[in-house]
Amino acid sequence: MTNEQLRSLLASMSLSEKIEQLVQLNGSFFGDIDVYTGPAAQIRMEPDQPLRTGSVLGEHGAEHLMALQDRMMAKQPHHIPALFMVDVIHGYRTAFPVPIAIGATFNPALAERLIEASAKEAAAAGVHVAFSPMVDLVRDSRWGRVMESTGEDPWLNARMAESEVRGFQGSNYADKGRLAACVKHFAAYGAVQSGRDYNVTEISEHTLFEDYLPSYRAAVEAGVSMVMTAFNTIDRKPCTTNKKLLRDVLRGDMGFKGVVISDYAAVMETVLHSTSLDTRDAAKKALLAGCDIDMMSECYLYHLKTLVEEGELPESIIDEAVLRVLELKNKLGLFENPYKDASVEDEKALLFCKEHQALSRLAAEESTVLLKNDGALPLDRRQKIVVAGALAEDRAITGSWALFVKPEETVTLRAAIETLYPDADVTFFGSDEVTDELLAAAKVADAVVLALGENQTQTGESLSKADISLPKAHMALFEAVRAQNPNVVTVLFGGRPLAVPELAGKTNALVEAWLPGSCGCYAVADILFGAVEPSGRMSMSMPYCSGQLPFSYSAYNTGRPKPRKEGFFPFVSNYLDVPNVPLYPFGYGLSYGEVTYSPVTLSSTSLTKGGQLTASVVVENKGSLPVKEAVQLYIRDLKGSVVRPLRELKGLEKITLQPGERREVRFTITEEMLRFYDADMNFVSEPGDFTLWVGHDSLTENGADFRLV
Ligand code: NOJ
Repeated sequence: MTNEQLRSLLASMSLSEKIEQLVQLNGSFFGDIDVYTGPAAQIRMEPDQPLRTGSVLGEHGAEHLMALQDRMMAKQPHHIPALFMVDVIHGYRTAFPVPIAIGATFNPALAERLIEASAKEAAAAGVHVAFSPMVDLVRDSRWGRVMESTGEDPWLNARMAESEVRGFQGSNYADKGRLAACVKHFAAYGAVQSGRDYNVTEISEHTLFEDYLPSYRAAVEAGVSMVMTAFNTIDRKPCTTNKKLLRDVLRGDMGFKGVVISDYAAVMETVLHSTSLDTRDAAKKALLAGCDIDMMSECYLYHLKTLVEEGELPESIIDEAVLRVLELKNKLGLFENPYKDASVEDEKALLFCKEHQALSRLAAEESTVLLKNDGALPLDRRQKIVVAGALAEDRAITGSWALFVKPEETVTLRAAIETLYPDADVTFFGSDEVTDELLAAAKVADAVVLALGENQTQTGESLSKADISLPKAHMALFEAVRAQNPNVVTVLFGGRPLAVPELAGKTNALVEAWLPGSCGCYAVADILFGAVEPSGRMSMSMPYCSGQLPFSYSAYNTGRPKPRKEGFFPFVSNYLDVPNVPLYPFGYGLSYGEVTYSPVTLSSTSLTKGGQLTASVVVENKGSLPVKEAVQLYIRDLKGSVVRPLRELKGLEKITLQPGERREVRFTITEEMLRFYDADMNFVSEPGDFTLWVGHDSLTENGADFRLV
């Protein structure tokens, strides 16, 4: 349709019909029943009204959605097709590692490939829009949803956000196998206080703009079609009715032109936040603020019409929102082909296909992080090995948003070892129980591998924890086994960095496997047996304890910085009981071989506005396996009109080096990269001295100084 045709369609729609385009309900409303129960009963609907709504949440499957589309178009007065929106977070039927693990690949190009595969599967299943990417910055792993984010760093999150938007949308999301993406949750949902889900945020304007907003901005600049509002408040105002946030920042400053949707019932929840008087007031405030679609509440459906009729809302504001929804349908090509890519044959060919399984394994090769190795790894397949812990045989390791996986398709650690290393002498104890058999086997083994941590029922939406230490039963299992055999390798599963200082001190080797997806355990097994070099890097710092949270490596000096020595110092900014640094910092991860860096060379020690300088290093693989090395660039602005972070990630290149290979890696530094929000909230650079570092992780001391003139 042309824009003119869209506008004349809009002009021919009744007010009620327009309002229905702004309502999204889930599948419980679409059964062939006359009497609604559950949530459907709470929203009083006219018969057939659900079928006239503009979009549907969570329904999937080619055959089902084609039939539903037929039913909906038949009832919609202008036969306008519905949009089918689904949470495709880290895969559709093939699960890839959870997003925090995708962040740990430090490989945005790989993230794009994973999302592209997810989009192909979901598109074949009739889905039009993915509620993804989730780009909320996360610095507090008490929050259960850290697993859905790519981590603590604004720059890395922004690169991941743009790659994921490209992965979903390609250059035209009407193309076969592409979806429209919906970035979420706008904004700063990751900053919920105390890591408690749905809580308020209390962050400064500087923190919001400099740390939390860049990833959403990157998604908008990459052309994301939709934005979902967050449940939380910012500056005491719920995001869904926050006009300044949605109209001024998102549409004004960021230039977003697409559709804004509320999170689930978030319009209605502003009544409970007690900033809206009632659901009518909530509807008015949300629409005025710029929220186009009301997901799963009755606010728009019941109140927009009377609000217009009674002169409290101009109809033009409804028209604006409806036009955006119609434009999205048009860009997806739904007026020409309302099923888009839904195809039962394509589902058969694509869902959990061999290619996607291989990608799931590859992703986990790059997301698994080796945190410690005192020599127990890699395992030797001629050794006598014991593998214990319920998680080694648990299929609930794909992540709580892997909604469409078939659990029987998930490969457990035990299955992976048995398939890939059938000749290895491994005895399995798939439980957390300390039995005499386990202790006896551990005693005579050469090495014991313990699978500990959390499964997917322990992290995710609403699953916040005040205590993020290792579950007690797991520490007891570890201690009992270690008393028999000091050669213990711990594989940690989970969607959040846990606080495991005691375990880390005692275990011989520590591997962060996250929730690795459908086939990720093949990669974990290959890493354990040394067939693959681990190349993941921590996307979030791993703290000593909850008390250090929220935490980020890009912290500030304070007026009383701690000396760079261990121990407690009175009257400086530190703790009596734990260090200021985390157990393992952002960007950290070991490999088996040795990778060396030459000192950094700068093309010049001064940089001008409009100019550039180059920082280069030579990286060499001195090990015996190919390695993937995430070469990281950090910069520190030594003085500013506001306090400046001790270092910030500003560049990244993940390279593959064959044994013995050397490669020069260059980063270009420009004045734009040095900009920040100054004391007056202007986004500028300030002339002065800077240090940059290029190295293996955020602790690197491989630095050089330059001056911005
Ligand atoms: C609530 C979650 O916060 C959001 O991330 C998700 O997309 C919606 N529900 C829809 O399922």
